[in-house]
Amino acid sequence: MESAPPDPPSISLRGEKATVRGHHRDDAGAAFVLLHEKERILSWLTWEGPASALELEEYYAEWCFRTEDGDDYRLGIVDNASGALAGSISLRFVGHPGVGDVGYWVGAPFQGHGLATEALTLAAHWAFRYLDTQALFAWVFDGNRASMKVLERNGFVHVRSRSTEWKDGERRREHHMSVLAEDWNERFADWLPGREDISPPR
Ligand SMILES: CC(C)(COP(=O)(O)OP(=O)(O)OC[C@H]1O[C@@H](n2cnc3c(N)ncnc32)[C@H](O)[C@@H]1OP(=O)(O)O)[C@@H](O)C(=O)NCCC(=O)NCCS
Repeated sequence: MESAPPDPPSISLRGEKATVRGHHRDDAGAAFVLLHEKERILSWLTWEGPASALELEEYYAEWCFRTEDGDDYRLGIVDNASGALAGSISLRFVGHPGVGDVGYWVGAPFQGHGLATEALTLAAHWAFRYLDTQALFAWVFDGNRASMKVLERNGFVHVRSRSTEWKDGERRREHHMSVLAEDWNERFADWLPGREDISPPR
């Protein structure tokens, strides 16, 4: 008898308030409702947002997307209190395998409860302790105080600022924030997720 194919490898890291785990197609509907035409989120991202749930379904179909340029991990943020998908956090290692670009959003109904802060800690734990990452970084638009707080609480520090072209051609200032593995490991030396299930990506 033929054996069933193995479950697709994924990760699940559970903190007090949030769980970070690989995205899957089924996240698309909930994510679309949280994102579509939500300026409160999209005004801080370079992305225009999804045109349809199908677009997200295709994007979430592979939580670990591998290309010639590097790996792109697409992780869902789940609100532990309700079990609902609350947001998303991505880690992209493009160009340099040891340096990851972090991006995230949390839907308006779930904001202000510490989910993004903890989701970033969980994602950084995975990156620094399992993926041999040397540094993580993020670009944050000027005025995004919530995101700055999330990053600073995770040990990210300001590296430099620049002016960049925005969606509508207008220019905006953005800040490069980064944390090195050695600094993160020192700061979070005693920190561990409540639970972690990790099956490495193929
Ligand atoms: C940034 C974002 C992910 C934060 O999500 P969150 O789950 O609400 O974050 P947390 O609750 O962990 O922490 C946010 C902190 O910022 C604070 N905050 C929120 N809005 C703020 C504002 N306008 N000014 C100052 N502080 C603000 C919150 O009160 C909280 O601090 P506190 O714990 O001291 O109260 C969410 O606001 C979001 O999705 N924004 C749009 C997308 C985005 O900016 N992504 C990051 C791009 S770099």
